[in-house]
Amino acid sequence: MNFVWQHARLATMANADPVGGSPPAYGLVDDGAIAVRAGRIAWLGPTAELPAEFGDLYRHDLEGRLVTPGLIDCHTHLVFGGQRVAEFELRLQGASYEEIARAGGGIRSTVQATREAGEASLLPAALRHVDAMLDQGVTTLEIKSGYGLDTDTELRMLRVARTIGARRDIRIRTSFLGAHALPPEFDGRADAYIDQVCIPALRAAHGEGLVDAVDGFCEGIGFTPAQITRVFDAARQLGLPVKLHAEQLSNLHGAALTAGFNGLSADHLEHLDEAGARAMAQAGTVAVLLPGAFYMLRETRLPPVALLREHGVPIAIATDFNPGSSPVLSLPLAMNMACTLFRLTPEEALAGATREAARALGLADAGRLAAGLRADLAAWNVERPAELAYWAGHRLLHERVCAPTP
Ligand code: NIG
Ligand code: FE
Repeated sequence: MNFVWQHARLATMANADPVGGSPPAYGLVDDGAIAVRAGRIAWLGPTAELPAEFGDLYRHDLEGRLVTPGLIDCHTHLVFGGQRVAEFELRLQGASYEEIARAGGGIRSTVQATREAGEASLLPAALRHVDAMLDQGVTTLEIKSGYGLDTDTELRMLRVARTIGARRDIRIRTSFLGAHALPPEFDGRADAYIDQVCIPALRAAHGEGLVDAVDGFCEGIGFTPAQITRVFDAARQLGLPVKLHAEQLSNLHGAALTAGFNGLSADHLEHLDEAGARAMAQAGTVAVLLPGAFYMLRETRLPPVALLREHGVPIAIATDFNPGSSPVLSLPLAMNMACTLFRLTPEEALAGATREAARALGLADAGRLAAGLRADLAAWNVERPAELAYWAGHRLLHERVCAPTP
C-alpha cells in the first residue's frame, strides 16, 4: 500500500472553499498525483509538484485517466436467499409492490428463502454479487439484515456480511433491519414482534459486534412510527446510530422521526414534505435516494429534489440492491438513473456515491480524496467525471484500490 499514481485527473470531491474563490467542479486537479503510504493518502496535488520524499515510491502512470474516491454503496440488502423474478412478472402484469406484499409475497417470500438457506449457501451467492460490485469501483458497501426476522437468521445474515469483509478487498458496514416486515408467525401482533424478537435480536447482534447502525421500514406494509421509535430507543441505549426507510410509498413522517434521533440518513423519500426536509437539514440527516427501486417499481412520484437542495439536505445515491424492489447492482447505473429520472446533476450524483454516501454511513475517513484519508481509490477509463453517469451499463473501471480495514 505504498505507491504514487501520477498523471491522473483527480476528482477529489473535496468541497472546501479555497480562500477567495469557488471550488472547481468535482474538486478537480488536472495532471494530478496521489501518494499513498500505509493505506492512507499521504499527499495529493499536481504531478509536477510531487514532493521529493515520495520519489522512491513505485510510480504508476494513469495516462490522464480520471481518479475518484472509491465508490460507496450506502444502502443494500445484499445478503438474501432465493430470488423474486415471479413478482417482477406479476408487477409487469399490473400488480403493485404493496398488493404483492399484502398477499404474503414480497419481503416475506425472501424471508422464507433466507431462513431455509444456511450460511454455506448465503455466502457464495453474496460473494458473487460483491465481486460484480468490485468491478464497478465500489470500495465501501453497506449491507442490511432484515430477511431473517428471527434472532438466528438475522444474526446469520450479519455474520455473512462480516465474512464478506474478511474474504474480499472491500469495507463492509452493517445495518440491523429487524423492523423490516412482520414475519407470518406474528400476524396481527406487530408490537409483540418488536418487543419479543426485534429488540432482543438487536441486543444479541450488538453483543457479537455485528451491528454498525440500526434501520427500519416505516410504512403501511412495514412498521408504525411508534414501533420504530421503540427500536430507535433501544439503538440509542446501545449507542448505535439510526437510519430509516422513510416516505417511500406514503408519508408517515419517518424522516422527521429519524432526524429527531440525529439519524445518519432517511432513505427513499418520494413522499417527503417540507417539514421533513427542514428537520433533516437541521439534524444533518442525509437523504439517500434510491432510483433503482423507483425505476423497478415504475413509481411516478419523484423525490422532492428541489426541496432538498433548497434546505441544504445532503443527498446520497445508492443501489438498494435487493431481490424485490431493486435487483440493480451497479452504482454507476444508479447514478445515471439519479440524473435521468431525478434530475440530479452528474456532479451531485458522483458526490452522492462518494462524499455524501460516506456521511450517510457516518464515515469521516472516506468518500473524498484528501491527505490523511483512507486510500480508497478508483481509476476509470474516462476523462470527464460526468462520463461516470453518462455511459449507462458500461464497465468503466480501470483499477481500484481499497485500504485495509483493521
Ligand atoms: O428498500 N422498502 C423496503 N425494503 C426494501 C425492499 C426489500 C424487498 O422488497 O425485499 C427497499 O426497497
Ligand atoms: Fe432498502
